[in-house]
Amino acid sequence: MKNIKSAKIIHLTLVLIITFFSCANDEGSITKIPEPIVLSFELVVSQQNTLRITANNTSTGINGLNSYWQFTENGPKVTDEAGPEMHLYDASGDYLVTLTVEAPEGDIQLSKTVTVTDSNEMQPPLKDATNSFSVGMAVKSSQLNTQHSDILIREFNNLTAEFEMKMNIMYPSQGNYDFTAADAIVNYGVDNNMNIHGHTLIWHTATPEWVNNFSGTDEEFEDMIEDYITTVVTRYAGVVRSWDVVNEAIEDNTNNLRNSVFRQRMGDDYISKCYQFARNADPNALLFYNDYNITFDVGKQEATFAIVDDLRSKNLIDGIGAQMHIDIFFPSATQIQSIIDGTVSRGLKMHFAELDVRVNPNNDLTFLTEARAIAQQNKVREVVELYNAIPDANKFALTVWGMRDSETWLIDFWGQPDWPLLYDDIFKPKLAHKGFLEALDN
Ligand code: XIL
Repeated sequence: MKNIKSAKIIHLTLVLIITFFSCANDEGSITKIPEPIVLSFELVVSQQNTLRITANNTSTGINGLNSYWQFTENGPKVTDEAGPEMHLYDASGDYLVTLTVEAPEGDIQLSKTVTVTDSNEMQPPLKDATNSFSVGMAVKSSQLNTQHSDILIREFNNLTAEFEMKMNIMYPSQGNYDFTAADAIVNYGVDNNMNIHGHTLIWHTATPEWVNNFSGTDEEFEDMIEDYITTVVTRYAGVVRSWDVVNEAIEDNTNNLRNSVFRQRMGDDYISKCYQFARNADPNALLFYNDYNITFDVGKQEATFAIVDDLRSKNLIDGIGAQMHIDIFFPSATQIQSIIDGTVSRGLKMHFAELDVRVNPNNDLTFLTEARAIAQQNKVREVVELYNAIPDANKFALTVWGMRDSETWLIDFWGQPDWPLLYDDIFKPKLAHKGFLEALDN
């Protein structure tokens, strides 16, 4: 309820802040004000007394709409307390907003209809835009059944654990497996009819210390790895559709294998041993080799093809995952096409894994400018167009590496700001999301 001095003509402007999601981040604080919807009313009054004005949103039964008002008396603006304040709608549609002005000559009611559109509904779900491949998202178990879930269920049909299905989490100490988080993610995916991509059994960066410092013999090490791969893959057999068995086995700018503990303990053929263990545990799971920079790092690309050719000769590989940690400038479409061509010519499936598109690789931004947002939209469109042009038999999934910009692993990794994902911090789809859809809009 607001009190104002009377005037002959009063222009009322009600600013409604419309959103479908609360604007709270994980800590509960408001991170960004969504776009306002402005409603204007004009009221002619004849008396000189104080008026009382209340607003009701009659369609939803929410009373006492507590919003930001501006009162204009014949031109000069009189603004009441600072606003705006947020009003949450939970469904799109037309809402009747009614102002009641209590005046001595009787109440005056003014109504206007506001059309509320869910910003997500303005763009169709990504997964519905294609039948030929799945659209993936990386998640943390802490994000399930939160606001992320609405978007996950609506837009994605392929689920990857961002870090909780790696060895350091699933096998923290010898003989003790911990599948708490992995089970939560897998069960969530099953409950919501998603494909589940297991990521990743062997990765030098996610190797627990006890494995790096393993005190037994090389033979015991190999037995331990066989037990680990067998245990994990068997646990999720028939549920996890695909696995990255070995991740990032090749040194940067070379065609050499990294000298990981696995290579040291099991020999150069540790890779095919690991794939064999996985194949034995679940013959139906699709097995991938996954690495980064393999679109443009020539040595790494050659080494990737050498690894998969060896695995192909033993029927131990089904696809290649090209991590798409890219930026708006690089790599080029031609470079991206080169990994597709090598994958398709080998009859393998192509996973565009871990897509994020940095807009600030040179650290010259403090916020996401429109120009960079458009550049990102263009790059995402290009990547998805390239992916979509792959023959259907070789398509698999295109996975985005995180939901909201603020959640990207890249900020910590590079130590500088960036906005590489498809949603902003209030879960609103960005232009990059539109670019994804544009590529599939036949
Ligand atoms: C990253 C995750 O995003 C982080 O949350 C985690 O702490 C470290 O790993 N290549 C990969 C991914 O294959 O598993 C990595 O994910 C990013 C680089």
